[in-house]
Amino acid sequence: MIKVMFVCLGNICRSPMAEFILKDMVKRRGGSFEIASCATSSEEEGNAVYAPAAQMLAQHGISCAGKRAVKFSPADYQHYDYILCMERRNVRSLDRVTNGDPEGKIRRLLDFSDNPRDISDPWYTRDFQQAYDDILEGCEAFYDYLRREGKL
Ligand code: 4NP
Repeated sequence: MIKVMFVCLGNICRSPMAEFILKDMVKRRGGSFEIASCATSSEEEGNAVYAPAAQMLAQHGISCAGKRAVKFSPADYQHYDYILCMERRNVRSLDRVTNGDPEGKIRRLLDFSDNPRDISDPWYTRDFQQAYDDILEGCEAFYDYLRREGKL
């Protein structure tokens, strides 16, 4: 069982999109996973996925019903194998909470792709299509990495 935690700033746009895109991918392509998402901030705690992000998922037949924002907890660091951040800023925030990532679990999602980069925050850019495309690219690259490494 591969345990994956996605992380962004608010846990209402990017990391929930990543959570449900990877869950959908696993359903179609296979693998034994536990997948969740969380925030580095408590700003949106308890809130549902932001409507434009939920709509992007719905356009691809993916439901995120019932998801509520939660904040990263130190226990998550022990539980999850891969802690995948949307941007460098999230990595820096977690570094403080995890005392510098001693087990090397924290990565940026798009560092698995051929074009490593941050995923811009659609809360500010308003470009939910770009966020969806980037997250899909990252999830595919991550899934392919696991397969290459013989972890699936
Ligand atoms: P997310 O977007 O990190 O992709 O979920 C954000 C949502 C809300 C806020 C920041 C980012 N906020 O500050 O409320």
